[in-house]
Amino acid sequence: MAELLGLGCSHGPIILTPPEVWHKGRERVFGRIPGYEPPAQLLAELGDDNGLAQDRLDQQKVVESFKVLRDRLHEWDPDVLMIIGDDQAENFLQDNLPPFCLYTGSEVDGYPFRHPGVRENLWQAAPETKFSFRCPQDFSRDMRNSLIRDGIDMASSSALKGWDWGLAHAIINPLVYLDPEGKFPLLPLFVNCYGEEAGLDYPPRPTARRCYEVGQSIRRFLDTRDERVAVVASSSWSHSFLAHKFQCTAIDLETDRRYLELVRQGKGSQLAGLTPEELQDSGDHEILNWIIALGILGDIPAEIVDVRDSHTQLAFRVAAIWG
Ligand SMILES: [Fe+2]
Repeated sequence: MAELLGLGCSHGPIILTPPEVWHKGRERVFGRIPGYEPPAQLLAELGDDNGLAQDRLDQQKVVESFKVLRDRLHEWDPDVLMIIGDDQAENFLQDNLPPFCLYTGSEVDGYPFRHPGVRENLWQAAPETKFSFRCPQDFSRDMRNSLIRDGIDMASSSALKGWDWGLAHAIINPLVYLDPEGKFPLLPLFVNCYGEEAGLDYPPRPTARRCYEVGQSIRRFLDTRDERVAVVASSSWSHSFLAHKFQCTAIDLETDRRYLELVRQGKGSQLAGLTPEELQDSGDHEILNWIIALGILGDIPAEIVDVRDSHTQLAFRVAAIWG
């Protein structure tokens, strides 16, 4: 039987930046919407300091919750650190965009501070600062082969095109907190969460059902192994700029609070029933990363470490631990 630890976190650039610059992101996002009218809750959060007090509070909570996750991870000391995150037109472009891709190389690097939005970061680190990881190549190849023989046609890559950019931000940003030293062998799994949202030539995102099945198949493989595996689901949930129900102007708090209760109570398998339209409406595209993790972990209750639900930070952020 697999011995597993589950962690859930967010990965947006703001987890790496000081609260004093958070306003730039929302001004850029909302500036794209003609005639933008801020929802009442956002206006209240912005207050009379353009949201700085709210941003300072949220930023402090984000850092504190990553510390809780990091401490639990290092105390648990896994043999493999698997991280599930979506590529947002970083390593995968129009020439080849698989629904899922397992990284089967022996090592990998990341440059989290190259992104223009994180030049000003909490560590005052230079853009070329490199983070290096060794990867469990035999284990990842065995996982891929097991998935394919189990009916999941998993793509793999050990030498990605565009790899000089390094790991996609959904993978590297949480690692700046969770394992910056590269202590644990790292196994990234990429998911096409944005799908057609990234552009007309992009294939649609996989369904929630399929993501859950991928997770279940990974679990069947893990149950044949002795390695202790930590599984990280990396993404925020509803994004204000993806919630079509609100013309991409607000986070769908009501929907995400409902999903949160399912995750808290160990009923995550119900999220496998979400339709593509539901995900599109509420802007929950990236929760697919969590649904794969839920398929691996099964219906066990999550310890919710923190929930950030202010509109100022543009997405519904959950930090959670299973096991
Ligand atoms: Fe994202």
